[in-house]
Amino acid sequence: MKPFDPTPDELTAGDMAAIDRIIAEHDNDPTQLIGILLAVQAAQERKYISRPAAVYVAQKLNLKITQLYDVISFYTALHDKPRAKYPLEVCSSAPCRVNDSKQLLETLKEILGIELGEVTYDGRFTIERVPCFGACDVAPAVRVNGVVYGNLTTPERVLAMLRELD
Ligand code: FES
Repeated sequence: MKPFDPTPDELTAGDMAAIDRIIAEHDNDPTQLIGILLAVQAAQERKYISRPAAVYVAQKLNLKITQLYDVISFYTALHDKPRAKYPLEVCSSAPCRVNDSKQLLETLKEILGIELGEVTYDGRFTIERVPCFGACDVAPAVRVNGVVYGNLTTPERVLAMLRELD
């Protein structure tokens, strides 16, 4: 699906059609709100749920906007602010920690010149810590927009992974 405008003041017809499709794929069912919001977020280039998108989803599902924001603020996987194009998710769970995810984190910070949660000046990268995403067998690993890059055991491998994203 084509990503929609990162910071729309208002949604375009294309944006609304994309959200309509996502809601239809979830049977127009408000109990599937988390899945809907994750899909809306994933379809957006800056991987967040803009205010107009949140308002539109709430209207379509007959929910109050406050209900939507309660869900967005509760789930760490949902974001209401623009993120980097490539959020680098580093696992913070125990099996990865013993496999040097801390070293991986330090390498990423050093190469990109940012701290956790900061965005590079060009809006391309941010570093986030997340719970296990099921890549324990290839730890230390990074997940970027749903794709896992494993065995990042050396700065050279980390650099190669970042270049692949360029
Ligand atoms: Fe890190 Fe599973 S413990 S990916």
